Amino acid sequence: TSVLILNGPNLNMLGTREPTTYGHETLADIAALCQRSADNLGLSIEFRQTNHEGVMIDWIHEARGQYGGILINPGAWTHTSVAIRDALVASELPIVEVHLSNVHKRESFRHHSFVTPIAVGVIAGFGSQSYRLGLEYFAHLLNA
Ligand code: DQA
Repeated sequence: TSVLILNGPNLNMLGTREPTTYGHETLADIAALCQRSADNLGLSIEFRQTNHEGVMIDWIHEARGQYGGILINPGAWTHTSVAIRDALVASELPIVEVHLSNVHKRESFRHHSFVTPIAVGVIAGFGSQSYRLGLEYFAHLLNA
């Protein structure tokens, strides 16, 4: 079974974007970490990023029935998008929400997530390790 890993807006800028908050790793580094973790866990993954909300919604719709689950870092859409949340519900897939930064120790507008109430759980604050920890959960769920 395969896990779809989705990344929202501005995450293509990792490495140069606010390195004190998000670290120096690039999105390609995170994709490579996810691939190594998936190999170790016996999972297959597909890793994508878009800055376009409609593209993200289309990908989530297409995932229905095609993947064992979705691991998503919705970026700023976490805090703004009912549409992303509704698409995730429509996918009928287990959702794991991840964030590089600990959103709860940042600005108050990052404390609310539209995705959390429909996710299995949230992993935030562990940098790129947040993704690996999410994949560990999916290995437990899907390879049981
Ligand atoms: C983020 C946290 C969001 O608040 C922010 O808008 C991002 C990245 C994170 O991974 O820490 O773009 O999702």
